[in-house]
Amino acid sequence: MCGIVGYIGAQPAAPFLIEGLTRLEYRGYDSAGIAVLGTSRTTRVRTVGRVRALEASLPKRLNGKVGIGHTRWATHGPAEERNAHPHISADGRISVVHNGIIDNAASVRAQLQADGVEFSSDTDTEVLAHLIARSDATTLEAAVLETLGRVTGTYALAVIDEQHPERVVVARSGSPLIIGVGEKEMFVASDVAALVRHTNRVVHLEDGELATVTAQGFRTFDRASNATDRTPVEISVAAEDLELSGHEHYMLKEMREQPDAAETCLRGRLDERFATARLDGIGLDAREMRGFRRVKVLGCGSAYYVGQMGAQMIEDLARIPADAEAASEFRYRRPIIEPDTLYVAVSQSGETADTAFAVSEIKRKGGRVIGVVNVVGSTIAREVDGGIYLHAGPEIAVASTKALTNMGLAFAMLALHLGRLHDLSFADGQRILRGLERIPAQITQILDDEPAIAEVAGEIAQAASTFYIGRVRGFPVAREGAQKLKEISYVHAEAYQTSELKHGPLALINAQMPTIAIIPGDDLAKRNVAAAEQVLARKGPLVSITHPGVELDHLGVRSIVVPKNEPELDPILLTIPTQILAYRAAVVLGHDVDKPRNLAKSVTVE
Ligand code: F6R
Repeated sequence: MCGIVGYIGAQPAAPFLIEGLTRLEYRGYDSAGIAVLGTSRTTRVRTVGRVRALEASLPKRLNGKVGIGHTRWATHGPAEERNAHPHISADGRISVVHNGIIDNAASVRAQLQADGVEFSSDTDTEVLAHLIARSDATTLEAAVLETLGRVTGTYALAVIDEQHPERVVVARSGSPLIIGVGEKEMFVASDVAALVRHTNRVVHLEDGELATVTAQGFRTFDRASNATDRTPVEISVAAEDLELSGHEHYMLKEMREQPDAAETCLRGRLDERFATARLDGIGLDAREMRGFRRVKVLGCGSAYYVGQMGAQMIEDLARIPADAEAASEFRYRRPIIEPDTLYVAVSQSGETADTAFAVSEIKRKGGRVIGVVNVVGSTIAREVDGGIYLHAGPEIAVASTKALTNMGLAFAMLALHLGRLHDLSFADGQRILRGLERIPAQITQILDDEPAIAEVAGEIAQAASTFYIGRVRGFPVAREGAQKLKEISYVHAEAYQTSELKHGPLALINAQMPTIAIIPGDDLAKRNVAAAEQVLARKGPLVSITHPGVELDHLGVRSIVVPKNEPELDPILLTIPTQILAYRAAVVLGHDVDKPRNLAKSVTVE
């Protein structure tokens, strides 16, 4: 959510800023801007819309070797040029890019206005530029520190100053910020995606940390100006992982990467000898794991829905009460943190503010929390007590696919691990291991069925509204399926428990309202088929996502048949056709699949 970049070095800054912003566009794409420091003056260019529009509007000669840039997901003020970052002080000396929210911006703005400061945007960020410029401090660092003392909220920010053209000052609290270390040049970015073509040596700033970045190096310090002496670490993301590599969209590429991503997630973690999963990263020994009487999963959006699948797996395999809750609600309902509950925070980006806040709330109250996270070194990954990395590789499309599948696998392994420490038998442990091993090839089978699923998508795309229904293990699948369709095709989709249909929503069923019914071949299949008949009896078009052997032929409905695995693991595979369905519907409707309207990949504000 909002991406920021910075450059200082021997080369003109603009090419890196534009390239970096293009890589960060998934974090927000309402508007974009850069500020480049020339020999004495700053040149600022901003546009509404995408980074390519910004690039097209750059002046020909823009050779300054220091600069900052921003791609925006609007929080304060509409997506208009005057609200695009960088924001500057009244005298144009200070330029600031910011990701996060300044909570007390309205009162600071009022004070500044009372002192005669004129504002040129509706944003919270602009107060930072004015406060820094008005500070009496003799260094830029001191002016930034003084300013941060006057504001509350979250931020990753980068500041340049015409009076100190040899430095970029950056600060972090609650939003990610990374410094990239090059040869006689240094980079700043919200995410390593912006940097990997230039360096693999990075420093992830900690909350409360600031840094002075010059062409020669960097110096980190805390809010009390004490040096924090950080050493760069090497990252292993390859630039090719971030390319489309011939695919039409990132979402399509990422869906197709799922068999390999799943293999990577499982590799080295399946323990034949004890019929369990080896999850060394969780950092809790067998005695501690046995001591948990309850599991609570926290995540947002699709991660929350996969968390529901995970909670079900844990109840099934470990026989300990488990549930999932939207992390965005958790902190606000005064949750009771119990010492014998294992909390699990699930997040692809590891930066989702709502989930990160839930983690800090749990930790403040003494709870044990582990992460199920994709991005190595991300905020949540660093804050939790331990965790399971997803190893899905970079995910660029806003709609999550391969990371969600790997979340399902991670939960299955966690459930198996917990189960084998409780009372799951050796034979059942082996059964789940065999099931997990089959998953990558079964995903390939589903992906091979893409043309048939695309046909169904063509019909769904024409509907104004749809239902996704599923029961027990199938319900999170329905929720995630509906979410995907809404997100990228903008077709309204509502998920219901199949069992609840007749308690209200059935009233909406008619020939214009298609239902996508999740009907696994399990002991509830007959009940689910009966519900499908109730829909058909009201002339509702119905598509089933089902398993071989489920008797639906007599109903004459269209079915997407998914290979069967173990019942506990089936939700992982049943979800895959819903991704393809949503993707193909969005393509038919001509939408920007990878960057759906109003959304951003990494939601770093509440
Ligand atoms: C849906 C989607 C979002 C995310 C949610 C949490 O396709 O991508 O619903 O799942 O914003 O994001 P992470 O997993 O990064 O915490």
